[in-house]
Amino acid sequence: MNDQAQRLRELARSREIVSSADNSPNSNVTPATVRCKSIAVTSGKGGVGKTNIALSLAVSLASLKKKVLLLDADLGLANVHILLGLAPRYNLSHFFDQSCTLEQVIIKGVGGVDILPGASGLEELANLDLGHLELLQHHFYNLEEQYDFMIIDTGAGIGANVIRFASRADQVVLVMSPEPTSLADAYAMVKVLYEKGARRIQTLVNMAVSERDGVETFDRLNALVVKFLKMPLELLGILLFNKEIPKSVRRQRLMVLDKTGDGFCVRIAAAARKLNGMASVKRTGFFRKFW
Ligand SMILES: Nc1ncnc2c1ncn2[C@@H]1O[C@H](COP(=O)(O)OP(=O)(O)O)[C@@H](O)[C@H]1O
Ligand SMILES: [Mg+2]
Repeated sequence: MNDQAQRLRELARSREIVSSADNSPNSNVTPATVRCKSIAVTSGKGGVGKTNIALSLAVSLASLKKKVLLLDADLGLANVHILLGLAPRYNLSHFFDQSCTLEQVIIKGVGGVDILPGASGLEELANLDLGHLELLQHHFYNLEEQYDFMIIDTGAGIGANVIRFASRADQVVLVMSPEPTSLADAYAMVKVLYEKGARRIQTLVNMAVSERDGVETFDRLNALVVKFLKMPLELLGILLFNKEIPKSVRRQRLMVLDKTGDGFCVRIAAAARKLNGMASVKRTGFFRKFW
């Protein structure tokens, strides 16, 4: 481990993050004790609707009376808060430079969801090293227990941070659009996740012009994945192109919060119910896996 990681571990200890031996990541925590299910919303290509979908899924899960934390893991280019028209006082960079605690960074109860905002334009967050991630993990250790779901809005592409977040989540929701570039990038993402051990990937096709367009888009990707990786993908849902969504983004008012854009809300709610029903994954705790 490099010097910086060592320094961060010492910092973690000095902040009394590991409050008791029983709570340390090295103790025998049985997976069954972790209630929080982590779901990474990711994509190969950027601009396919991840952030909008991650937020909408989080709000829909909260409306099922679930306790939900949304982590803006597009670290350095975070924009969950922008979609909601929020100007958070603190973000993760304040936590890392010790200006505040992790609890202070969390914005409580937006549409029933707690939000952990990232930061925009901060290079050190965009290139978070293992030491910083370990520090985050230590703090999340107990926090994670308070939630039923942690939705992680990752950045796009197969960079180290994105893969770290996506490959450690209990479930991956891969968002793609019908564009050929999105297909190629989605395949690249699936391949990398497969190599990291992922065997169940939920796919959401966004911006389809019709149901059929969505199914064909999914089939194209699935055929590639089955052919080369011998692993079928699962279709979580199809979301149609909806011109109200860019308008809601400009208004900085999430559509599912207003229950407008009926078709979109209904389909997102169906996807959220499916995710809620998929309870069988063994949860070892998202941040425990960073250890
Ligand atoms: N179903 C949709 N129909 C039309 N526009 C959409 C849809 N989903 C997302 N968008 C638009 O696509 C753009 C990118 O969305 P965003 O959620 O920021 O994507 P990402 O997080 O993948 O970069 C936004 O301007 C948003 O309004
Ligand atoms: Mg985004």
